[in-house]
Amino acid sequence: MDMDALKRQAAARALEEVRDGMKLGLGTGSTAKHFVELLGEKVAAGLKVVGVPTSEATRADAIRCGVPLTTLEEIDHLDLTVDGADEIDPDLNLIKGGGGALLREKIVAAASDRMIVIADDSKWVETLGRFPLPVEVIPFGLAATQAAMARAFAAVGASGQMVVRKGKDGHVFVTDGGHWIVDAHLGRINDAPRLAGLLNPIPGVVEHGLFIGLGSRAVLAGGQGIRVVEKR
Ligand code: A5P
Repeated sequence: MDMDALKRQAAARALEEVRDGMKLGLGTGSTAKHFVELLGEKVAAGLKVVGVPTSEATRADAIRCGVPLTTLEEIDHLDLTVDGADEIDPDLNLIKGGGGALLREKIVAAASDRMIVIADDSKWVETLGRFPLPVEVIPFGLAATQAAMARAFAAVGASGQMVVRKGKDGHVFVTDGGHWIVDAHLGRINDAPRLAGLLNPIPGVVEHGLFIGLGSRAVLAGGQGIRVVEKR
């Protein structure tokens, strides 16, 4: 079975959790896009929900699929967020931001009662860090910010190359919030909650892609079927 079919299966399973009247956070990426499309079909069939997109790309998808939208300026709380991830560990801690939407994704997930993470099972890892950790930064003072990030990494025994992300056009990738992303190639993050706490206070760091304690459930689709993992 191809990866895209697995992603759609995970999205379809998460859709079973959606009820009439829910306020939903809509994730970003190729897996979340399936969820938005399937949700659109349910809305066309009469389901009443409203969604908050986590990126301009998802906003466009939701509009195309006929999903009614609102914002977290208009409402302050969501019932459920459904989003993908780049890595998921057994505590349901995540690396996110491969698509560059981590800041809005984290704001939306944090405003939600529950977050269901949908993925093909290649995203499941014992220890986070093989996927480069995206860190959204302010361009001003970049070298100083990266030095502070390196000290945070060293404090948890990690190190690795830091690369300012570029877009397909070769120019620096700019997030929906107007910031840059540094991808930190750490290989292994032994204590992700501690690293998250060390990155949070660095002034030039807007947000990082470690999602600690936000995932409530993971829906993982693989060749053997779907596995649902609850937060332990
Ligand atoms: C977007 O910024 C990311 O956090 C995505 O949720 C993550 O990269 C997963 O994307 P895919 O579903 O495309 O793998």
